[in-house]
Amino acid sequence: MNMDAIVSLCRRRGFLFQSSEIYGGLNGFWDYGPLGVELKRNIREAWWRDMVTSHNELVAPPGAPSPFAMVGLDCTIIMHPQVWKCSGHYDLFHDYMVDCRESKRRYRHDQVQGRWVSKEDRRIFVATELVGAEAEEDILHKALKFFGLRAKDAESLCWESPVVCLTTVDDFSRVLAPDAKTLGTLTPPREFNLMFKTYVGALSGEENTAFLRPETAQGIFVNFKNVLDSTRVKIPFGIAQLGKSFRNEITPRNFTFRSREFEQMEIEFFCRPESSRLWYEYWRNRRYQWYVDLGLSRERLRLRDHDASELSHYSCGTADVEYAFPFLAPGDFGELEGIAHRGDFDLRSHMEGKLVRQGDRLVVELGPNGQPKHRGSGRDLSYFDDETREKFIPHVIEPSAGADRAALAFLCEGYQEDEAPDEHGKPTKRVVLRLHPRLAPIKAAVFPLVKKDGMPEIARDIYAALKPLCNVFYDEKGAVGRRYRRQDEIGTPFCITVDSQTLSDGTVTIRDRDTLKQWRIRSDDCPAAILGLISGTTQIPE
Ligand code: GAP
Repeated sequence: MNMDAIVSLCRRRGFLFQSSEIYGGLNGFWDYGPLGVELKRNIREAWWRDMVTSHNELVAPPGAPSPFAMVGLDCTIIMHPQVWKCSGHYDLFHDYMVDCRESKRRYRHDQVQGRWVSKEDRRIFVATELVGAEAEEDILHKALKFFGLRAKDAESLCWESPVVCLTTVDDFSRVLAPDAKTLGTLTPPREFNLMFKTYVGALSGEENTAFLRPETAQGIFVNFKNVLDSTRVKIPFGIAQLGKSFRNEITPRNFTFRSREFEQMEIEFFCRPESSRLWYEYWRNRRYQWYVDLGLSRERLRLRDHDASELSHYSCGTADVEYAFPFLAPGDFGELEGIAHRGDFDLRSHMEGKLVRQGDRLVVELGPNGQPKHRGSGRDLSYFDDETREKFIPHVIEPSAGADRAALAFLCEGYQEDEAPDEHGKPTKRVVLRLHPRLAPIKAAVFPLVKKDGMPEIARDIYAALKPLCNVFYDEKGAVGRRYRRQDEIGTPFCITVDSQTLSDGTVTIRDRDTLKQWRIRSDDCPAAILGLISGTTQIPE
């Protein structure tokens, strides 16, 4: 898997462009091109369909403790500022940054690493932003340069540590920053809140400050009562929402992996406290399987339980679905989705005010005047069970995924270079994007073999019949082998070709992108066949 090749394909074939590229781009912002927008829509639609609209609330799905309901919401990006004060984002949603006085560059404290090295009586920490083997190379190169040595003198350097994070270093006067030539140019780490600020209305004072949401989840919590009162859902049930979120990341990086504007797909699942562990297990496994079912290989995907030190102060358990992205060092994984057991933290925060942990209890945080530091809504967000006549605050399981990270993982997984016979039967290199048919931007391409003998007319009729059902592409230009290659490269799973046999018996060939198998069907049957192949109800013939 070669990240440069994937990035180049995304640009060349219109999956992803840098935002505002003609003005030099804007770091951390990405635009989806004509094919990228289809891929991302398909991911969102697969998630919405699989989690919400196709969910049958009358039966318990495999592994679920009981039947449950699922509904959706679409909330605003800008919400009442108190939402973020009570949720904890206003006080706590920050990263630490360090600035380099020499290069004027800014780094995330925990994303700089380096090695201690000495030469004679000088001991320094050589820092880099790179990872894996590239980090080792960069550190060696910088150390040689700093001490004025040539590569052949590398053995005179005494390495005192493996690659460690800058967070382990106390004395910054010994640090050679990633883009600096002199020592001690980094400022001490400073907190940086990741929420983007804006102003509501014409005045731009502190009172009118609002935030672009850094997650979609809070819209669900503050509408919990509205959903209960306006529908007939009963616990256990889930509320799903997908949409844009914004984080002013200090160092956006790795293509779209860490962006400043991105899309989330989140579920808040409300259940009784005593069954919450079982629901946590259910969602943890279900969400992992979703990625497998859509084509991510188990070899590159893992479900990692957080250890106690990683858990947020309110979380009773969290697991991440992680993918071995090709831009990471071997053995490293990047988060696709987190599944968190959040207890009653969120609903209580919006009732009572911002909570903090005191021993093993969550209590309202008080300000210097002894009053709640951030006052809650005062609304009763508890649930009344009319069968057991009990009133309680539901516990929450939160599967929270990123649509852009999912798109990136599917692109990375799908990208392959193999060999396939060209139109003369000669094996030639082929770039193929093995996207699951549900996710592929174009489901089928329709070709007349040649632009004569009535073939284009038949192909256009097939195209017209398919067009209302799914996204299809018509192409009559160039050699048919080249047309296949262009579709393989963008992940089109099926190609339909009208040839001379079509003129005599009304059949066309269907070619499968992955196996390269070709078989014939009646041209009238194309709509049913393509829909069946996409949904998996029709199998590719043996
Ligand atoms: N409500 C919980 C929450 O927001 P999170 O782990 O911060 O949890 C959930 O975010 C998911 O959102 C991540 O697993 C990731 O897929 C996506 N995500 C978070 N920050 C992102 C960023 N800067 N760029 C792209 N995706 C991001």
